[in-house]
Amino acid sequence: MSYLKQIDPEIYDAIFKETNRQFTKLELIASENFVSEAVLEAQGGVMTNKYAEGYPAKRYYGGCEFVDIAEDLARDRAKQLFGCEHANVQPHSGSQANMAVYFSVLKPGDTVMGLDLSHGGHLTHGHPINFSGFLFDFHGYQVDKETETVDYDQLLASAKELKPKMIVAGASAYPRFWDFDKIRAACDEVGAYMMVDIAHIAGLVASGLHPSPVPVADFVTTTTHKTLRGPRGGMVMCKEKYAADLDRMVMPGIQGGPLMHVIAAKAVAFKEALSDDFKSYQKRVVANADALAKALIAKGHRLVAGGTDTHLMLMNFIDIPKVTGKKVEIALDKAGITANKNTVPFDPEKPFVTSGVRLGTPAITTRGVQPEDMAQVADFIDRAIANRRNDEELEKIAGEVADFCKRFPLYPNRMQEA
Ligand SMILES: Cc1ncc(COP(=O)(O)O)c(C=O)c1O
Repeated sequence: MSYLKQIDPEIYDAIFKETNRQFTKLELIASENFVSEAVLEAQGGVMTNKYAEGYPAKRYYGGCEFVDIAEDLARDRAKQLFGCEHANVQPHSGSQANMAVYFSVLKPGDTVMGLDLSHGGHLTHGHPINFSGFLFDFHGYQVDKETETVDYDQLLASAKELKPKMIVAGASAYPRFWDFDKIRAACDEVGAYMMVDIAHIAGLVASGLHPSPVPVADFVTTTTHKTLRGPRGGMVMCKEKYAADLDRMVMPGIQGGPLMHVIAAKAVAFKEALSDDFKSYQKRVVANADALAKALIAKGHRLVAGGTDTHLMLMNFIDIPKVTGKKVEIALDKAGITANKNTVPFDPEKPFVTSGVRLGTPAITTRGVQPEDMAQVADFIDRAIANRRNDEELEKIAGEVADFCKRFPLYPNRMQEA
């Protein structure tokens, strides 16, 4: 960091302030995490300098012998971690991983089914403002009104009617387990490809805490930076029979040079994820989410689908007059708690307002927060919501949150470098 301080003090200062923000606030955004120093070191290293279009041993550039080692390790470790036949670790993001799959087996205009965004799906699963919605004829399936879990009967009925070429499973805001066998059965019934986007649950799947779609899906995509706790990026796994088409679609189809420094950091994260420590970490992520959900319910809050099986939950304010996700997000922020507003199933509010807030435990669990601390976390959240119009009280909670966070050190060396 000393070079940066000298050359560009403004960026140095912004990074230091961001480090401090991450340290002093309670990070409950379900899609975020804190990577290890080893991952940061690999991502900040000299592999950023290297052009390596192509794949290991088949590059368009010379001098790739060492980046080849990194990419081979990343691919092999991904295969070991998820038990997949083929892995492509080059997608720059989760969105590009999804794009690569769609483009490798679909034609523009093809019919596809995905979970509605407002029921937990992702923009890249067919939303009209996203490339997936521009190019393909996406139809949403939804959760059941009572259980707020995926309505597999409706999904099957729609599939029989629409005859989609692909069914996409997976979500950004869905707290319960997926039944991948039911999705496979629907795909088989209508001759559709099955793609599962495990961006959120990848760490749980790798640790055996969520059923794996790898044995039954044609394609599995993921980000590497959420529960998987790696650098920001994407990955596609697939059956060997699709490997050549998929690789061609990632490069040269939709990308140029791979980000070799990020791929090196993905390899490091996968090595960490293969360890017993990571499995214990994931168990704690789920135990923390369960404890937080139960503590919030005990305080009278409503959660989508009545709780969680995973790392995330959705607070549902649909029945509370004048309380919106936006207002709660702002109040939580003032109280030192970072979370995001989120639509809930059958939400009457617009996506910039919403009737829900999504909470997740991957980041705070990395810091060492334990299930026995979750009653305290629930209390902070509950008080912030109750005092959402009382800035003085919110500031007081922020002080208590900062003291709480001090018990769980984060990047201690970086914090000392100011
Ligand atoms: C389920 C799912 N898929 C894909 C993505 C997109 O990932 P990225 O932001 O890396 O493009 C996300 C991101 O939140 C996601 O939740």
